Amino acid sequence: MEYKIALAKGDGIGPEIVDSAIEVLDKIGSLMDYKFTYREAPVGGDAYEKFGHPLPQESIDICKDSDSILFGAVGGPRWDELPREKRPEMAILGLRRQLETFANLRPGNLFKALKEASPIKESIIGDGFDILVVRELTGGIYFGERGYKETEYGKSAYDMEIYSEFEIERIARIGFDMAMKRDKKLTSVDKANVLETSRLWRKVVDRVAKEYSEVKVNHMYIDNASMQVIRDPKAFDVILTSNMFGDIISDEISMITGSIGMLASASIGKDKKGIFEPIHGSAPDIVGKGIANPIATILSASMMLKYSFGLEKASQMIERAVEKTLEEGFRTADISGGGDFISTDEMTKEVLKRIKK
Ligand code: IPM
Ligand code: MG
Repeated sequence: MEYKIALAKGDGIGPEIVDSAIEVLDKIGSLMDYKFTYREAPVGGDAYEKFGHPLPQESIDICKDSDSILFGAVGGPRWDELPREKRPEMAILGLRRQLETFANLRPGNLFKALKEASPIKESIIGDGFDILVVRELTGGIYFGERGYKETEYGKSAYDMEIYSEFEIERIARIGFDMAMKRDKKLTSVDKANVLETSRLWRKVVDRVAKEYSEVKVNHMYIDNASMQVIRDPKAFDVILTSNMFGDIISDEISMITGSIGMLASASIGKDKKGIFEPIHGSAPDIVGKGIANPIATILSASMMLKYSFGLEKASQMIERAVEKTLEEGFRTADISGGGDFISTDEMTKEVLKRIKK
């Protein structure tokens, strides 16, 4: 079986970590007899430098013509002063929108071997936790009307949060479907004590919940949820939330797992094609040093095998290899706690060695 993968490597450490994931995919390919073919789709600041746009039409076409997309990271201080439409971030926002990947799955689980890297006390994390953030990805304040207007206080800016029932319902269904495959608990996070969009969100979530009577549902305000995930992360299973709140709470959760360098994500939509990317950014401070942690991207490739291609076993082979590598004590700088660490390449090699049928 052949799978066409678009590579949107992007900026900063993006190219380094995507290259690690390709090595892992190729190893899987040779063990399981799958053929992965790759085409590069320039995005972000890199594409801006070459083509004057962070998401050239050609890159969109390459992504649309592929079975799935592996995305590195975009952005960097070099492009911070550009107008909004030219900023590297527009590449990922544009792709999400173009491909209608409205559901962003962000697993926040603690690897047992990394317990000591978590800033949370052992008495709180115990054996670890396993949270799945289901973030709405193509709506809300990220995509609402925005602009400037003159007011009596001078120039003012605005960004509008808009959610339709349709958008809320389809993401809620993904949340409940995921909960059914897990611990059957769903926390819907909003700000219904203030926002109208949140009040509609709650109403729709409650309506969808009726079709999933086995799932235990509760609602939480985002400010409270941000506190509760630190107070008792084990109490959460699926967190269903909007674009903006999901962006924020998924970074928070990644921190309590020990390292943002560990967490993968899948952006999926109406068909099997998805965008798979680490949740961390382009880390301009460590570019070219060869010390980036490739695990989040390797695990993103594993999510691609599972969600886009239905290759559950191959996906588990990667997860197991990563777990073993960590259990045997290998660490990149970000998870070394100041101790010895290995390079991006060495970490990739250690994971490769442990990929077994
Ligand atoms: C993320 C990132 C993006 C977002 C940025 C780069 C636009 O923070 O994927 O979490 O806000 O969605
Ligand atoms: Mg983010």
